[in-house]
Amino acid sequence: MFIDTHCHLSREDYDDIDKVIKEDIEAGVDKIVVSGCSRESIDEVMKLRDKYDIVYVTIGYHPEYADNVREKDLDYLKRLLSEKKVVGIGEIGLDYHYTKENRDKQIWLFEEQLKIAEEFNLPVVIHSRDATQDTINTLKKYRVKGIIHCFSGSLETAKMYISMGFLLGIGGVVTFKNSKLKDVVKEISLEFIVLETDSPYLAPVPYRGKVNSSKYLEYIAKFISDIKNISVSELAEITSKNASCLFDFNK
Ligand code: NI
Repeated sequence: MFIDTHCHLSREDYDDIDKVIKEDIEAGVDKIVVSGCSRESIDEVMKLRDKYDIVYVTIGYHPEYADNVREKDLDYLKRLLSEKKVVGIGEIGLDYHYTKENRDKQIWLFEEQLKIAEEFNLPVVIHSRDATQDTINTLKKYRVKGIIHCFSGSLETAKMYISMGFLLGIGGVVTFKNSKLKDVVKEISLEFIVLETDSPYLAPVPYRGKVNSSKYLEYIAKFISDIKNISVSELAEITSKNASCLFDFNK
């Protein structure tokens, strides 16, 4: 029924991943796209991919590692991209929330990975925080498609990304009382939306502040289906189809 297009699943955050996966399946989750975005977490998610049928992966270096990633790390990434169930590159992007001082390095790392996405013809999962304009300008230089993960921008920004061929990843933030995201989602056609949790972060209401998990997708889906005035199962069908068109789950 549901596809979680972006989350993290690490022993650092969950004591018993077997149990987490079992509960996800019971809650109607068909596929979980787990992101490995550091050298260590890439190795970890590749093991999860082998262990659980439901797990697919995207791998890539998050902008927070921009100061540490070297050419050899990019070569390592390339070696893994052809493997089974590796369905995309990410999360990659720009994050100026804590610092903009290494902007050039962040853009370098982002561009190197966009070139790899072009080369391997794989979709990208984009992380962009306080960096909308640079993200748009950088993406425009490459022929890539993908998801703007954890989208929480304005309607104008949403329309810009959609015009560039991107989908919007909508997660728990849409359920937050003070979030304006619901007003944006209301105006956006469902053909451009995919569901995500970004677990273990950003749990939806009524679990806000708790450890998130893909099983809470149903709360996000319920909230969006109410906004859109359709049933949860219709919403699940449309958003899962969007995800399946982007990611090759037969890989
Ligand atoms: Ni994430």
